[in-house]
Amino acid sequence: MSDSASSQALYGGTFHRRVTVRDLQRAKSSERWPMLTAYEQYTAEIFDSCGVPVLLVGDSAASNFLGYENTIPVTIDELIPLARAVVRSTKRAMVVADLPFGSYESSPEQALASATRFMKESGVQAVKLEGGERVLPQIRTLVAAGIPAMAHIGLTPQSLHQLGGYRVQGRGDDGILLRESARAVQSAGAFAVVLELIPANLAAEITSELTIPTIGIGAGAACDAQVLVWSDLMGLAEKPPKLAKVYRNLRKEISDGVNEWARDVATGAFPGPEQSFQ
Ligand code: KIV
Repeated sequence: MSDSASSQALYGGTFHRRVTVRDLQRAKSSERWPMLTAYEQYTAEIFDSCGVPVLLVGDSAASNFLGYENTIPVTIDELIPLARAVVRSTKRAMVVADLPFGSYESSPEQALASATRFMKESGVQAVKLEGGERVLPQIRTLVAAGIPAMAHIGLTPQSLHQLGGYRVQGRGDDGILLRESARAVQSAGAFAVVLELIPANLAAEITSELTIPTIGIGAGAACDAQVLVWSDLMGLAEKPPKLAKVYRNLRKEISDGVNEWARDVATGAFPGPEQSFQ
């Protein structure tokens, strides 16, 4: 990679401004990049300084930050403060907010009103919405209003009950429908599409067919980008899903640190002279 190409790299590049949809488009086929969820200040700041080019304030905050069982209950009012914290704590990453269940399905006007709230009240640069054909009018309306829209097809967790669980999508003939959905969201104007829990060969076909970046989660290695819920990656989740690889055991690190401190409190070793004042 030439010097100027490496300084333009999405991951680890040296430019000092936020990543844009044009940067993601330019990287199609030349760079595989990472996207992570972020829900608050410290992790957002760390991921941004690592050079992760896109941070998603996912509705997965519901079950990874707010204590809900799944993503269905979380509301715009709950997600906006998280999105605001992530935007405030980052300088370079594009911050994308999920439109939560119930905030966009009924009409393009509802989607526009919800996305507008995220853009104005939190400062995110784009929104993501789940669904293929059924949300094409919503995607068109957002894009016409100048709001970058990321699509999400395959396993769409907000439709958990309709899908009958967290199951692989697009096997067999369903793969044809999923390829059509991918083409349709691109034609409607989506700037990228998340492919969740679909066969790796289908994701590879979709990736080579589309001109917009594909972002895989449980969709094999051929996608243009990969996304994970950060707490799955770092071992905070008690039971991380099979699609996530656990790179660190933060659950153990945090427990060990807390137990060490609590023992020091019990023995009087904390606070020591360094933490005391005269
Ligand atoms: O909410 C979320 O975290 C997501 C990603 C896993 C794609 O939608």
